[in-house]
Amino acid sequence: MGKYNFDAIVDRRGTSCLKYDFAMKRKGRDDLLPMWVADMDFPLPEEILNVFHNRISHGIFGYSDPTDPYYAALNKWFSTHYGYTIEPEWISVPCGVVFALATAVKAFTEPGDACIIQQPVYYPFREVIENGDRKLVNSQLRYENGRYTMNYEDFEQKVVENNVKLYILCNPHNPVGRVWTKDELVRIADICLKHGVTMLVDEVHADFIYPGHKFTSFMTLDEKYREKLIVCTSPSKTFNVAGLQPASIIMPNPEVKAKFETEKAAAGYSNAPIMSLLATTTCYEMGSDWVAELVAYITENKNYFKKFVEENFPKAYFVEPEGTYLIWVDFSAYGYSDEELEHIMLEEAHLWLDSGKIFGPATAQFERFNIACPRSTIETALNQLKEALDNHKKW
Ligand SMILES: Cc1ncc(COP(=O)(O)O)c(C=O)c1O
Repeated sequence: MGKYNFDAIVDRRGTSCLKYDFAMKRKGRDDLLPMWVADMDFPLPEEILNVFHNRISHGIFGYSDPTDPYYAALNKWFSTHYGYTIEPEWISVPCGVVFALATAVKAFTEPGDACIIQQPVYYPFREVIENGDRKLVNSQLRYENGRYTMNYEDFEQKVVENNVKLYILCNPHNPVGRVWTKDELVRIADICLKHGVTMLVDEVHADFIYPGHKFTSFMTLDEKYREKLIVCTSPSKTFNVAGLQPASIIMPNPEVKAKFETEKAAAGYSNAPIMSLLATTTCYEMGSDWVAELVAYITENKNYFKKFVEENFPKAYFVEPEGTYLIWVDFSAYGYSDEELEHIMLEEAHLWLDSGKIFGPATAQFERFNIACPRSTIETALNQLKEALDNHKKW
């Protein structure tokens, strides 16, 4: 028994909670169990909340900016958990990681320029490229023997053919759960270096790594890769503080940093909110023990989920994740149409999931489940799904 209780159910309804309160508006039903957005159902530990309470008691919430303790907290977390340190002048603090992705697209490419991603991948990668009037280039991940890998030949060919200017990488990779190895990162980085491609690496899932795997931050690779490098970090996933929009974007090259800052200012953003800065500082300073127990709990959730799928859904394939609290399941062997699969999840199992199609056109037969919740919620969800699949009359 650990110090923290992750089994407790906290009612989040009625808190303007995107995950729970918008089912009717977004999906047309209010009886759905939500396992979609990457948002955890665990409250922060008391020691962190006490710091928040104290700050709130002060009563004044004017403009703010990062101070020394902020950078010290980043360095404590990054050195302990990922094995590198930063200099304060490398850091930009925008309102969240997706805003940083959109800002980088504008800062490092021109309208019409090509940007490359590897689908299936977190769908805002596509959105910031397309909505920014840039050309989307996809080098589809290989899916062979139930495992995802990068296709280097295809990637390089597309970089050259399209004169790609920017690469957006997800490590650990949402939704497929790969924690890219050092060798894989070096291989892809070499291609980018050779062709002058700016690398934007989103590492927000870095703290969720399953036993037997090791996270390699781009910041720990050879310094030669830092010339055109942007690394996105945030406590938003690890501590579930996305509603405060924290992010610390690392850019070791001052020219890269200056371009990014100019674009950020052009979007009208200057100072990060006080509670966002406080959350980053406090969580990174005080949160190590809580995260260790959290990751152990989620690992058990993952094992439970896998066993349930293997025992009860003979035609479903559980893609073994190496990291993230997102589970990627392949339902293609059931032979349902894409609409039928969606109908089963929503109307028959009453589950609100992220359908695979939003991560790329080739994965409509996959569903993504968020398992960062008490185990009993997973039990309920999987039993609902079992009943739906057992009783479904094929269209
Ligand atoms: C890979 C990845 N990047 C970024 C985000 C969101 O970042 P933010 O809320 O800071 O914009 C998510 C959320 O799920 C994510 O999975």
